[in-house]
Amino acid sequence: MCGIIGCCASSSIKDILINGLERLEYRGYDSSGISYIENGKIITYKSVGKLINLKNKTKDININSSIGIGHNRWATHGEPSLNNAHPHISNNKKISLVHNGIIENYLEIKDILLGQNTSFYGKTDTEVIVKYIEYIYKGNPLDSLLTLNKVLKGTYALCIIFLDHPNKIFFLKKGSPLLIGKGKEEIYLSSDIFSLQNYTNLFLYIKDNQYGYISNSTYQVFEDGNYINTNFEKYDSKQIVEKLTTYNSYLEKEIYESKDVIKNIITKHINDSKIDFSKYKINKVIDNIENIVLLGCGSSYHSALIGKYIFEDLCKIPSSTYIASEFPYTPIIKKTNTLYILISQSGETADLISCLPLLDDFKLGIINVKNSSLSLKMDDNFFLEAGSEISVATTKAYLGQLTFLYLLGIYIANKKQLISKEYYLSLIQELESIPNKIKQILDNHQEIKDFSNIIKDYKNVFFIGRNLDYLTCLEGSLKLKEVTYIHSEAIPSGELKHGTISLIDQDVYTIALLSSNLRNKTKSNIKEIESRKGKVFSISTNDSNYNIPSTLEIFYPLLQIVPLQLLSLYTAENKKLDIDKPRNLAKSVTVE
Ligand code: F6R
Repeated sequence: MCGIIGCCASSSIKDILINGLERLEYRGYDSSGISYIENGKIITYKSVGKLINLKNKTKDININSSIGIGHNRWATHGEPSLNNAHPHISNNKKISLVHNGIIENYLEIKDILLGQNTSFYGKTDTEVIVKYIEYIYKGNPLDSLLTLNKVLKGTYALCIIFLDHPNKIFFLKKGSPLLIGKGKEEIYLSSDIFSLQNYTNLFLYIKDNQYGYISNSTYQVFEDGNYINTNFEKYDSKQIVEKLTTYNSYLEKEIYESKDVIKNIITKHINDSKIDFSKYKINKVIDNIENIVLLGCGSSYHSALIGKYIFEDLCKIPSSTYIASEFPYTPIIKKTNTLYILISQSGETADLISCLPLLDDFKLGIINVKNSSLSLKMDDNFFLEAGSEISVATTKAYLGQLTFLYLLGIYIANKKQLISKEYYLSLIQELESIPNKIKQILDNHQEIKDFSNIIKDYKNVFFIGRNLDYLTCLEGSLKLKEVTYIHSEAIPSGELKHGTISLIDQDVYTIALLSSNLRNKTKSNIKEIESRKGKVFSISTNDSNYNIPSTLEIFYPLLQIVPLQLLSLYTAENKKLDIDKPRNLAKSVTVE
């Protein structure tokens, strides 16, 4: 979380910083700020809340500086306020920096500085860094960064300007993403490539413990005091964020793109009705896999749960799933020949990265963002190639993750001869038909839109279903609560009577998924709800409030989630909420 940007140009950097921050807003929108050097001074503007506030504050300001840094904040230490907003400034006003990450030992460092009578204006860990640099700085920023890297514990991507080096921006990276972009007459630093898409397609990813500087014509990277030879890589236009055209929000656009994401993955991995994974290293270990551990957070954890079902059902491989933030603290009995599958849209989720030291067998990433921190630490990656996902709530990446899990499950089951040739072919054929079935759902959205008009006024919603239906309920419920702020909960329908049913009355709506072969049992549970005056909206293949196309039992998660994503979208639209940037959230969760 938090997005940082820096630019050394040959003309004013104002638009570059503001445009870049606009693209980085998905990483946090509690406050934003910029610092630049002009007329021998560091000048800083900050605003609390979304970037629009900073834009308004600076709109009439003529910035004649060609060097500056910027920041979007997702608050960790200290509430969203002007004092806690970045950039943070040294007491002598000669150093300004922006930071993405968390400094774990900032209180210890702060104590040292307080002992030196250093004053502080805010509550952040970042302010401690800039004050510490001021304390150790002897005129050579690179020396200070080398020392700083030894002192700081935690994660950090830093862009720093020093008044007495007015043509350079210095950087240091550990744990949080940072890259250099090379334009014609400018060099940039940023948390991601999307923020710079209008300016360059040449990028260099900085590695952990590397530091250095950029100017408008050159740059240098160091590690442990030694110069590192580096090169820029060209990124194709596919990585470029498209603008909203006919859609009202990125959430809507991305829901509509899901079918294309699935189609693309399928087309690239199915040849002549056979799954082709020959290019992947995982091929070499598949025959030896004795168990599978799937890790993820939020929606990616929900994908993992469906993955477990697939691997146990089709491949008969014992599988377990863990919420990544719990995994390091869970007593786990280690088994040999484990395949670890780490699922993440961003590839930057700190909770997943913190699991890495515990994973001592083959690690497969199912990741959207190439070159993300997690992807670089995997033994192999399935990249979703879903394009950038801008909406904070994930939709197309979730469906892309599921598609890879299905392909892998079917592939292993076939390789191990656990399924018949006919079943293998029917699974492939059916998977290939899913994008069209999703299109049918998207075309037939009016009933969902109408229902969103009703549900928008409810304060509590339950999602019920059994088995795979229940796993989709978990994702549907998360989607609804995060973008509409309606409290919701997913319950296996058979579990309702063991306690939660006491909450059912006329003020509670229940959304029931009835696609699994246990639908008749869920139908009985619906009756129990209705007898208690609870209202129910059912989703099934026929005879329900909203009918979806039918598919093979195992593939229903790919279809059922789509009306639930649409429901969240339309309900948020009805409530006039900021759909792509729900409160308190950030797209990339880089803190534990
Ligand atoms: C929900 C959502 C989050 C993410 C979670 C993991 O819509 O987007 O729950 O799924 O923060 O993020 P990634 O997949 O980037 O690791």
